[in-house]
Amino acid sequence: MNYNIAVIKGDGIGPEIVDEAIKVLDKVGEKFGHQFKYDHVLAGGIAIDEVGEALPQDTVSACKASDAVLLGAIGGWKWDDLPGDKRPETAILGLRKELNLFANLRPALLFDPLAEACPLKPEIVKGGLDIMVVRELTGGIYFGKRETRMTDKGEMAYDMEIYYDYEIERIARVAFDLAMKRNKKVTSVDKANVLDSSRLWRRVVAEVAKDYPEVELDNLYVDNAAMQLVHAPQKFDVVLTGNMFGDILSDEASQITGSLGMLSSASLTEGNFGLYEPSHGSAPKYAGLNVINPIATILSAAMMLRYTFELGEEADAVERAVEKTLSDGIRTRDIMGEGCTQVGTDEIGSAIAERI
Ligand code: IPM
Ligand code: MN
Repeated sequence: MNYNIAVIKGDGIGPEIVDEAIKVLDKVGEKFGHQFKYDHVLAGGIAIDEVGEALPQDTVSACKASDAVLLGAIGGWKWDDLPGDKRPETAILGLRKELNLFANLRPALLFDPLAEACPLKPEIVKGGLDIMVVRELTGGIYFGKRETRMTDKGEMAYDMEIYYDYEIERIARVAFDLAMKRNKKVTSVDKANVLDSSRLWRRVVAEVAKDYPEVELDNLYVDNAAMQLVHAPQKFDVVLTGNMFGDILSDEASQITGSLGMLSSASLTEGNFGLYEPSHGSAPKYAGLNVINPIATILSAAMMLRYTFELGEEADAVERAVEKTLSDGIRTRDIMGEGCTQVGTDEIGSAIAERI
């Protein structure tokens, strides 16, 4: 089969990590008889520099015309002084909204060979960790009304947390559907002791739960959830939460699985279309140095194979190749362990591709 992938390398380390994911996809194509075609388009800081805007219309059109989007990373200190509505990050938010990518899946998986990279005590994570964070991605405070202005009491700014019931319902269904294929447990995270939007969240989630009698539903306040994630991470299976809390908790979950460099993500809409990107940022300090871990991007490509192209066997092959590379002791700096060999971005990408 032929698959058309829109590719946004983006800023900082983006180009390097995307190159490794493409290397791995090409190897999958060769082994399994598929053809992946790449349409390279601009977004983020590089697009601001080259064409004067973070998210050119051509890029949106190319993404809409593709089967799936692969994204590296966006942003950097170079554009930090731009006003909020001109920053590179507006490209990511714009893509999420334009493509209606309301469901963000961030699997935090502790690979066995990386057990020692986990900062938690061995007894807390014995037997491994496998948490799927399901983050609502096109609503909440990220997209609510916002304003900064001068008042008679001084300068004032606000960002509104807004959720509609239909937005909560559709993301809850994604979480419960996933739970049915996993350990049948959903932990919904909110701040219902304080926020109206969270009280609505909790009510709608409880309604959806009635359609999934086999799934156990647990509600946690976000402060408690942050604590439980390091205290008893094995209690979690699927974590269902809003945009802002999901942003924070997914970084926390990634860190307990060893490194932010390992956390992949899929941003999905209704149907099979999706955008795939690592959960980490553009790390401009490390750009071009061949030291960054590309595994989060490679695992995001595996998610693309699984969720958009429905190529489960191929996705398994990529995940196995990652695991094999790690257990063969081939590591980037962030996940380096005793007796392992430290290699660069390019070398670990090749090692993974060779193991497919
Ligand atoms: C993420 C990032 C983005 C977010 C930024 C870059 C806008 O942190 O994907 O987690 O906050 O969603
Ligand atoms: Mn984030």
